[in-house]
Amino acid sequence: MSTKIRAIISELLQVRKPEDEIRIGERLRNYILELQENDLQELDETQDQWLGSGLALAPRYASACLKDYHRTVRFIQGVQQAIQDQLKQKEDEVIRILYAGCGPHAVQLLPILHLFPKERLEIHLLDFHQYSIQAVQKLVSMLDLEVYHISYHSGDAAEFSHPEQQKFDLILCETMFEALFREPQMALSLHLMPQLSESGIFIPEQIQIDVVQTNYRSLPRIKEDMELENKNQQRQHPIPLGEALILNKDFVNSFNPSKTRQLLTSHFQYQLSQQNSHREVVLLTKVKIYQEFQLDDGESLISNPKILGTLESCAPSGKFWLSYVWDQQPKWLISSRPLSSST
Ligand SMILES: C[S@@+](CC[C@H](N)C(=O)[O-])C[C@H]1O[C@@H](n2cnc3c(N)ncnc32)[C@H](O)[C@@H]1O
Repeated sequence: MSTKIRAIISELLQVRKPEDEIRIGERLRNYILELQENDLQELDETQDQWLGSGLALAPRYASACLKDYHRTVRFIQGVQQAIQDQLKQKEDEVIRILYAGCGPHAVQLLPILHLFPKERLEIHLLDFHQYSIQAVQKLVSMLDLEVYHISYHSGDAAEFSHPEQQKFDLILCETMFEALFREPQMALSLHLMPQLSESGIFIPEQIQIDVVQTNYRSLPRIKEDMELENKNQQRQHPIPLGEALILNKDFVNSFNPSKTRQLLTSHFQYQLSQQNSHREVVLLTKVKIYQEFQLDDGESLISNPKILGTLESCAPSGKFWLSYVWDQQPKWLISSRPLSSST
């Protein structure tokens, strides 16, 4: 592995300030894209695929995720810490890692692999798009990582299990968009988390979605060019209405797999007031990647606020209900009446 990427990674693992994350994230992205230049020429030709549990982003969009710098940098930092912890805890054992939805760069893992002994890792790289898997395979060779024990799989992660039915010690799976809309994070978490060993780690560890009443346009949100929208807006604090979902090991353990692919919430109570402009129902997403490595709402394209509806023409106070459905097009539904599982 070149000294250049080693230097980038050693700095990347140290940075904590958002502006440094953008600077180092950009250096990493430029390095990877330059390296893969000749292998990504047909990047635009593979299309998005809607699978049974959500959207498998086309390789060109998965590649664009590199640019979500706070996300990319903090995931790499979290994964590095998680591998280190697992190696320490399992002493001399081999650690089995699954990276589901690795995209064309497997960016959360390949750039840090050289930090760990090859005899201790068994790695499985998986993506729906064959194109991404081929690109990743070439990248492994360009980064001189062929000495590692890596298996490549293309297919639907919602149907994947270890080829010899072993448990994984670490599963990386970031297949999500804001408020868990569109992409299959929920279905993949439900399918893959049970394949963890007892002290295994799933990354991200937790995704929390909160419901607030607010003026949507005043909320900070990151744009695709990494500019923060509304950063100078006078902050109007959203009114918290409650929690819509916490997706973590506890949720998955208590989930009954025979149930429909739908989650119904209890009611949320709102109150409109003349004094403020909090007229919209918005979902805020917080992602706990691993331990202290987290993404707050508005810090990443995967944790931007998502508007669900307006209360403008509603009674001055009242209730509403939410439901999350993870079929082909994962989404939240809002209703002024209690929802049933058939709604
Ligand atoms: C948001 S991108 C993330 C790419 C990369 N992990 C990164 O951090 O930049 C999600 C990736 O997951 C893949 N994916 C989505 N759903 C999948 C599924 N059901 N099975 C396998 N791969 C899937 C997509 O093809 C895409 O490459």
